[in-house]
Amino acid sequence: MRALLKSGLRRFAHALGENEQTSVHSPPRLPAGDRRATVLAVATQKGGVGKTTTSVNLASALARFHGKRVLLVDLDPQGHVNTALQQVVHKGGGRLSDVLTDDGTGREVLEIVTATGIPGLDVTPVDPRLGAAEDLLGTRIGKEFILRDALKITRTHYDVIVIDCPPNLGNLSLNGLVAADRVLIPCDPSPLALSGAQALLSAIGQISRLLNPDIDVLGLLMTRVDGRNVTLNQAIMAEVEESYGDAVVPVQIGINSDLAKAQHAGRDVFEFAPDSRGATQYRDLATWVVHQA
Ligand SMILES: Nc1ncnc2c1ncn2[C@@H]1O[C@H](COP(=O)(O)OP(=O)(O)OP(=O)(O)O)[C@@H](O)[C@H]1O
Ligand SMILES: [Mg+2]
Repeated sequence: MRALLKSGLRRFAHALGENEQTSVHSPPRLPAGDRRATVLAVATQKGGVGKTTTSVNLASALARFHGKRVLLVDLDPQGHVNTALQQVVHKGGGRLSDVLTDDGTGREVLEIVTATGIPGLDVTPVDPRLGAAEDLLGTRIGKEFILRDALKITRTHYDVIVIDCPPNLGNLSLNGLVAADRVLIPCDPSPLALSGAQALLSAIGQISRLLNPDIDVLGLLMTRVDGRNVTLNQAIMAEVEESYGDAVVPVQIGINSDLAKAQHAGRDVFEFAPDSRGATQYRDLATWVVHQA
């Protein structure tokens, strides 16, 4: 009797699930493309180490110099991707928070993206409700998998999807990491940034055991490296090399005011200051990333 009741309940739940998929309220399913994007999360808990600067200029370099179709997902409620690209992001698109808090009707990130003036680069538009969505996510069953599921068809339309994560390990970052194939960890040469990277690495270990066995660390990217402070750099780099060895990305990003000015001007560094050191280094980073595929 108990078994019968259980299987009856299972059938009932299954039918409900099926109805949900085909409900009249469901948006029509989007056609699949013929690509299969690598999803690259740019993450670390420490704030201000260059996550957004890296996400924006890496995504842009992959589109500009490598002919990739790239989607840049702004998963940070601060909306800095959109501030950094405000002069080139086209109007339109929708809210990522609507996709993330949608009730199981299978909405896709692709439905809300918008194009930019950089050929090949799309972004998710600025979304003031993303912060509230983070709290709502906490109440959802399977909350860690929502972004991954919402990228299923979306990823068939791009070669690379770059996710700019917020500076914490909350539900939004967790969604970014569960959706990711690779994680790039920016880290400036400071003890706090190093311990942030270490905390993220142990979180990635847990995520790979429990939620996303495919996740892999692309590398630890040294950012905001002060070329003038040789002694401090050498000391910190020795520590970094000893702790992380091969995981350290062979391209470093130095302190370069053109990167900050470009962000302020709402353009990527390749348009704002194409001959700057920041432009060269982010271009080199993109070339390295392409060769890691
Ligand atoms: N290599 C660099 N040289 C000089 N300034 C930089 C560099 N990288 C980033 N900046 C500046 O440092 C500040 C923080 O950078 P960014 O916004 O990329 O960090 P973040 O890690 O995304 O921050 P948050 O944790 O708040 O999201 C910005 O003003 C940015 O312009
Ligand atoms: Mg940021």
